Amino acid sequence: MSQPLLQVENVETYYGNIRALGGVTVTVNHGEIVTLIGANGAGKSTLMMTVCGSPQARSGRVVFDGRDITRMQTHEIARLRIAQSPEGRRIFPRMTVFENLQMGASLDNQKYFDEDVKRIFALFPRLEERQYQRGGTLSGGEQQMLSIGRALMARPKLLLLDEPSLGLAPLISKQIFEAIGKLNKTEGLTVFLVEQNAFAALRLAHRGYVMVNGQVTMSGSGQELLANPEVRAAYLEGGHH
Ligand SMILES: Nc1ncnc2c1ncn2[C@@H]1O[C@H](COP(=O)(O)OP(=O)(O)O)[C@@H](O)[C@H]1O
Ligand SMILES: [Mg+2]
Repeated sequence: MSQPLLQVENVETYYGNIRALGGVTVTVNHGEIVTLIGANGAGKSTLMMTVCGSPQARSGRVVFDGRDITRMQTHEIARLRIAQSPEGRRIFPRMTVFENLQMGASLDNQKYFDEDVKRIFALFPRLEERQYQRGGTLSGGEQQMLSIGRALMARPKLLLLDEPSLGLAPLISKQIFEAIGKLNKTEGLTVFLVEQNAFAALRLAHRGYVMVNGQVTMSGSGQELLANPEVRAAYLEGGHH
């Protein structure tokens, strides 16, 4: 098989003197949904941000599409078509839904603009209904749809999603996860998904990793991790079964 789309090799990331990632190795292959689960503070967002170059890894390597991006700037990495829906969504609240989508489009993709907006409206019809509304007036679920839609406007090869279901009602989370699954199935989009909502994320994912205190402690197929007693005890008990 061809090389992985994303290879994170033994990465260490620090905030000042505090080591947030202690030698993390994660692989994402073309066409996969890979999920990273772990408790609050485990280092999940730090890993995702390290892939995007801010903060940068202090040691180890991040290789994307065969290219070492460990020392690249965030805007250069974005140009390689890694798009992110960050934790907390970070849409532009004073801009309309349509303008938010415009912001996500990269300059070299302008010729696809109308087609891409159509695709995103087909995926999330709520965004079409609300296209002239300001982002800040949307519900949490709609803001998450917009955050994903904006990332998709860049025609990413790799979509990074940081806790898309955080704070959303179960029915809305379900819609978001279904949309991610659909993008993967119909367009072959490769997704790296960070979630505390372990059940839904592992069900959706081809493979998963468990992170504890800045280190990967377990990995396997989504099904294997769902069935694993330690994973169940730590992340699933008390939730869905
Ligand atoms: N900007 C920051 N400055 C200092 N420490 C941080 C910063 N961001 C995160 N941390 C610390 O790094 C660790 C990992 O955080 P984070 O990656 O946000 O975890 P998660 O996303 O899994 O909840 C935590 O101990 C957190 O307190
Ligand atoms: Mg986080």
